[in-house]
Amino acid sequence: MSYFKILGLDREPFSTSPDPAFFYESQEHHAALMRLMIEIRLKRGLSLILGDVGTGKTTLSRKLFQMLKERTDIIFHMVMDPTYDSEKLLLDSLVRTFGIDMGLGPDRSILDYKEEIKKYLYRTAVDENKIVVLLVDEAQKLNAMSLEILRVMLNYETNEFKLLQVVLLGQLELLPRLREINNLWDRISLKYMLNPLDEEETRLMNKGDLSIYSRLS
Ligand SMILES: Nc1ncnc2c1ncn2[C@@H]1O[C@H](COP(=O)(O)OP(=O)(O)OP(=O)(O)O)[C@@H](O)[C@H]1O
Ligand SMILES: [Mg+2]
Repeated sequence: MSYFKILGLDREPFSTSPDPAFFYESQEHHAALMRLMIEIRLKRGLSLILGDVGTGKTTLSRKLFQMLKERTDIIFHMVMDPTYDSEKLLLDSLVRTFGIDMGLGPDRSILDYKEEIKKYLYRTAVDENKIVVLLVDEAQKLNAMSLEILRVMLNYETNEFKLLQVVLLGQLELLPRLREINNLWDRISLKYMLNPLDEEETRLMNKGDLSIYSRLS
């Protein structure tokens, strides 16, 4: 019998992989989630969550996914490892992430990919009136070329809203790199820094006080 069953739990509580079922909603994580929800619902375009290694960015992204997956008005896409060596590889990955069927046919050009993505965003966000979210975890891995492609996609908009809602979650090293790209930095509507759990929270967690975890139903 597994040790956690003996303890009366139905799953491994101290797994090293981020599990939203054991998400501890500190004030800071709660605020980050609420503010992200607002940005997404208002379709403001680009949100940024920064935090040092292990501050709970991936856990937060899974929690957000859990919160949004039942909603039929929000289409949530996640990219967990955004390492792309060429523009085409990134666009190809986005097309697959968005579930766009480019058909068979000859080798597609970069322009074809961009056109298909644009068409998908107009169809989904304007014609069908849905909110399309692209969450990128490990965003510090995005290179300059990838950031530029995302910037261009944030230009797709109507008079009222952005067609694509991008959420970047990344380690602190991403900050100076984003700051250098003025026309991207200026477009970030939410900038939020996650800090490690504070002393009291850490004490409760270390005491094994499982009541502090917000369990998902
Ligand atoms: N709010 C939280 N509630 C419960 N567990 C958490 C929380 N924040 C972090 N953890 C735990 O800490 C570990 C690291 O969290 P996570 O992987 O989400 O951090 P990260 O910010 O994505 O780190 P990295 O920068 O290395 O990707 C995980 O095992 C996760 O379960
Ligand atoms: Mg992570």
